[in-house]
Amino acid sequence: MKILAIETSCDDTGVAILSADKGGNFNVLANVMSSQIEIHRKYGGVYPFAAKREHQKNLPIAYKKALKDANVTEKEIDLIAVTAGPGLEPCLWVGVTFTQELAKKLSKPVVAANHIEGHILVNYLTNKNIDLPALALIVSGGHTQIILVKNIGDYKILGETRDDAAGECFDKAAKILGLPYPGGPEISKLAEKSEPGKISLPRPMINTKDYDFSFSGLKTAVLYHHQKQDKKIQKDKKYISQMAAEIQQAIIDVLIKKTLKAAADYDVKTIILGGGVSANHELKTQLVIRAHQELADVKIIFPQIDHSTDNGLMTAMCGHFHQKETTKPQDLKADANLRVGS
Ligand code: KG4
Ligand code: ZN
Repeated sequence: MKILAIETSCDDTGVAILSADKGGNFNVLANVMSSQIEIHRKYGGVYPFAAKREHQKNLPIAYKKALKDANVTEKEIDLIAVTAGPGLEPCLWVGVTFTQELAKKLSKPVVAANHIEGHILVNYLTNKNIDLPALALIVSGGHTQIILVKNIGDYKILGETRDDAAGECFDKAAKILGLPYPGGPEISKLAEKSEPGKISLPRPMINTKDYDFSFSGLKTAVLYHHQKQDKKIQKDKKYISQMAAEIQQAIIDVLIKKTLKAAADYDVKTIILGGGVSANHELKTQLVIRAHQELADVKIIFPQIDHSTDNGLMTAMCGHFHQKETTKPQDLKADANLRVGS
């Protein structure tokens, strides 16, 4: 089966074509990504209406390129998967309306994909078998959730952020320090030049008994600390690196503490990482070390680096696993607040 997948939930236009056989073997035929980073850098974050305009411009081009890369004709596509939510509503609608028109024109079945589930399922591209139940930590610019994966398609959200997402905290803290968007990769690069603990920042909610997060207090602490420094220090490379190392460690400490607590409480066999922040090298390294110290026998799985941030393949994986749950093109709709589980 050849699955065409469309992803426009945030600031990357993704079109992928994935071939999947009945034995669960996947072959990536095309994975086209059109990034809008340069556009949003000017605003210091994603500006939804500029993102929508860019998706409208880029999607038809990315679609043609994907067909060409895959050497596949429109007729050969068996199924179309499109991200229906969660995400930025104006952006989601671009992918949804494009899919509606294409599905009608080609008479192809459509699957409405959940973006968060896509961040989980993309891990099956490189791991044929994942022992369940698993715990998924999905950390991106828009979401921070701890999800119990009972089965594929059967999820329970154990905890989530009450305000800013982890990636959003990286991005906003970076902006305060005068670093470009997106802040996560910038902070992680600078953090390598120093070590945490030179400056002290809070770890909000680290000791609460739930699995929820709160990152807006950390962002405020970064702002207050930075404003207190004199202008010369604010631009000092050593100071910026020390701040970067401490911001990164504060976020990692909370993410790991809550994830390991949930993994132990629910006695899971696997921890799955996903979302843009899962590209963070320190997060992955420290999670592996601490999981091995604190938990008996848990396998840690994380996506290939280019599958951490948004891409069309994650949507294609939703199409594959939910290929029997098709939607009529006219019934497709974007839902900015779509939930992956109860
Ligand atoms: O999953 P994603 O591409 O888009 C959303 O669904 O939000 O995640 C983007 C987020 C941004 O906030 C970005 O700063 C963060 O992922 N990010 C990172 C790293 N690479 C991307 N955060 C920390 N370390 C990284 N290496
Ligand atoms: Zn995402």
